[in-house]
Amino acid sequence: MKIGLIIHSVTGNTLSVAKQLQKRLTENGHEAVLDEIKTEGKVEFGSKEAKFLNMPDLSGYDLLIFGSHTEAFQLEIAMKIYFEKIERIEGKAICFATHQFPFKWLGGTGTVKKMKACCEEKGLKVLGTSVINWSPESKRQANIDNAIKEIAGLI
Ligand SMILES: Cc1cc2nc3c(=O)[nH]c(=O)nc-3n(C[C@H](O)[C@H](O)[C@H](O)COP(=O)(O)O)c2cc1C
Repeated sequence: MKIGLIIHSVTGNTLSVAKQLQKRLTENGHEAVLDEIKTEGKVEFGSKEAKFLNMPDLSGYDLLIFGSHTEAFQLEIAMKIYFEKIERIEGKAICFATHQFPFKWLGGTGTVKKMKACCEEKGLKVLGTSVINWSPESKRQANIDNAIKEIAGLI
């Protein structure tokens, strides 16, 4: 299966998860392409616009996996604006998010719920979502491993 990992990451956490996920999917026999959404500078919370340095081409994939993170208990603003800008597209998607707190409901759950709604609004069928708690540090890698297992299990 050709899978597009479409990621927005400001400090690198979501990107590091995406790279590990890409490795697992490749080991599982898929062609996994990682494409990062980049903006000119950090898009501040509350912004209505964002200057995107690239808009990944979403065509040609059997599955899209979107990765982003939580800011102020919601989906980070650049990703929200990104979803508003993309064209309608049919197909399948999975969404995941990283967030700082040790409990999913402290931002992560709301973030993936919003990502799922954004995907569905554009015509994508969402197979599932996953949240990675970035703290405590002692559990971080186990949390990442669980999310990768969860996502790989949906494919
Ligand atoms: C301005 C700001 C607000 C944040 N708000 C939350 C929050 O409400 N809940 C949470 O769990 N993490 C919050 N975080 C932490 C990030 O979601 C977390 O560090 C994430 O892994 C960053 O992903 P990235 O490195 O891919 O950009 C916030 C971070 C920033 C910079």
